[in-house]
Amino acid sequence: MVTVTAPGPIPAITSEVREMVRVGRGYLAPSTMRIPNRCYTDPEIAAAEMKTTFAAPLLVAPGLRVADPGDYLTTTLIDTPVLVTRDAHHKVHVFVNACRHRGAQVANGDGCARRFTCPYHNWVYDSEGKLVGIPGREGFDDQDMATIGLVELPSAERHGFIWSKRDRAATLDLDDHLGPLGAELDSWGMSYHVAGLLDLELASNWKCALEAFQETYHFPYVHGNSLVGQGTISNISSFDQFGRHHRLGVPIKTILDDPDAQSAPYPGNGLSEHAVASHPSEHVVAIYFIYPHTVIASSPLGGEMIQFMPGPTPQRCSVRHTVLSREPVVGEVAAFFDAYTPLIQAVIRDEDGPIIESSGTGLAAGHTDVILGRNEVACQFAHRQVLADIAAEGFVV
Ligand code: FES
Ligand SMILES: [Fe+2]
Repeated sequence: MVTVTAPGPIPAITSEVREMVRVGRGYLAPSTMRIPNRCYTDPEIAAAEMKTTFAAPLLVAPGLRVADPGDYLTTTLIDTPVLVTRDAHHKVHVFVNACRHRGAQVANGDGCARRFTCPYHNWVYDSEGKLVGIPGREGFDDQDMATIGLVELPSAERHGFIWSKRDRAATLDLDDHLGPLGAELDSWGMSYHVAGLLDLELASNWKCALEAFQETYHFPYVHGNSLVGQGTISNISSFDQFGRHHRLGVPIKTILDDPDAQSAPYPGNGLSEHAVASHPSEHVVAIYFIYPHTVIASSPLGGEMIQFMPGPTPQRCSVRHTVLSREPVVGEVAAFFDAYTPLIQAVIRDEDGPIIESSGTGLAAGHTDVILGRNEVACQFAHRQVLADIAAEGFVV
């Protein structure tokens, strides 16, 4: 049999997780943790989170979404529409997607373009954000075009991803932000291709959505009939902290088989052949929380990236799910994802989405707190980061 070594930390954490499965008990926090209801409902706390938590460096997208000069994408950085470009010198820029004339979005969707023409009055910008054309220039002849290019936000491309901040005057220090997680991310060689995008708007606080992707306790009840629940062993995980970030190690059912046996990451779905051929030794899914709003779950073929963004009220949020592939999405890899992506998107949209909204509805009624179990250690940890942020704004809850 051809032996393929699993990437990243998988070989190192597999024996720990296998032993946890053998004894039937994962990593447990020292105690349960109560999160007051107001953390999910109070507009002042939501405003404090926007000012602190969401002032942190934010993961925008995999760098390969704008692989070549001229490639661009548009997205929303929490409350800020942004245009991401790769210029002719291969440098990535993150601009506020707001025309300097009267604010219209100068680009939509994604693609490849040397120029961006605002649809309102046809002002034209290049991929470095410079304003290069104004129809009826005489109407603006007292304006210096060199000073009214697109507003650029701080950005960096590291560890295979594009990062940015919402504050244009801020500095972006990724080494400081990621700390030891930077080396961990590098150990994966994370240059991910994108095999699917799904955006959901949910009637729920953003932290309800974050919680749903920080524990496997709910898998048998919410995902019992789908590939997520059928492929994994629930409610047993390893837990490791990296500064303000963390990693869960979640066992795949094959972990108790012969250690040299090939893995079947999602048994029963009939789609695992390619994944098995790629990385037969992966029996653990590493799920990272990259503070403040990104979760990446590895898989033998790539991964899932889930991002959580607060909405205009504490009871609304958006969730962006990105299917990641380690290999270019062409040929048999594309065929795999053509079948796999709709299935995993259905799990997120039809299984996680409704239960997150249900949780949000119950909490919005204002009568109940949240009690996080010792088994929900990653939820506890993520909440502690946000609670530390809002404490700095005077909210000690
Ligand atoms: S708003 Fe863009 S050209 Fe007028
Ligand atoms: Fe789930």
